[in-house]
Amino acid sequence: MKHYLFLLLMLLTFTACSANEPDQPVQPIQPEEGEGSGYFDGKKVLIAYFSWGGTTERMARQIQAVTGGDFFEIEPVTPYPTSYTPCTEVALEERDSDARPAIRSSVADWDEYDIIFLGGPVWWHTAPMILHTFAESYNFEGKTVVPFTTYASTYRDETLQAIADMTPAADHLEGLGLTSGAINESRIRTWIDLINEQYGNQAAINNVEADAAESGEEKYFDLNGRAVSPDTLGRGIYIVKSGKRTAKIVR
Ligand SMILES: Cc1cc2nc3c(=O)[nH]c(=O)nc-3n(C[C@H](O)[C@H](O)[C@H](O)COP(=O)(O)O)c2cc1C
Repeated sequence: MKHYLFLLLMLLTFTACSANEPDQPVQPIQPEEGEGSGYFDGKKVLIAYFSWGGTTERMARQIQAVTGGDFFEIEPVTPYPTSYTPCTEVALEERDSDARPAIRSSVADWDEYDIIFLGGPVWWHTAPMILHTFAESYNFEGKTVVPFTTYASTYRDETLQAIADMTPAADHLEGLGLTSGAINESRIRTWIDLINEQYGNQAAINNVEADAAESGEEKYFDLNGRAVSPDTLGRGIYIVKSGKRTAKIVR
């Protein structure tokens, strides 16, 4: 009898340890290959997303259809409960404990990508914690991140901002958040056309930088390199320059 109890204990210990071990090595996988496109100067695009109920995945697929990018699903090692209320409980617990849920696989050939669309649903007023795990797992130096999200009714902008904040080493282009019913090809194409233009105008920003380095006062510019008054800044991404310092702000 004692013998069986010992075996049972061993089995339970082993199962508990292997279920969600955050430090275990993750398997690199090749993202599903897209067809490529002329967007973003032909640079390589990755669409990385987490989706619990399929809505963000639908948006991610449409981004892929327009950009021809490669496709990578951020999947948790321990799946979230499939019922809504238990899932909200786990999600809240993760948010409040600043958790880093382990991810099942990693992006093979990360260095090849230049533009990373990074998205997930709004969970409890912000991005799911698994996006932080993802953001902390890669070097974003030299990358351009485009945040995207889906939501029911609230905290869209805060979530786009959270995704930009978790990738501070990257450049950012303006993100998009949509409710389920608003996801359609034409909206997504219009947005991608706009950020594609902003991306092409980076050279203009660099010229502005050279001019602004001469003076010590703080100046604001939009992504097209046009000077804007700090009193009239709307929502979006701006470049703020003071002397030799250049910073990007997302409002
Ligand atoms: C755990 C949890 C928390 C959520 N929190 C919010 C929220 O704060 N604001 C909101 O508008 N929607 C919230 N939602 C709704 C989802 O953001 C929305 O349904 C989203 O499109 C789902 O995307 P998905 O199907 O890719 O998981 C929440 C949903 C879940 C499951």
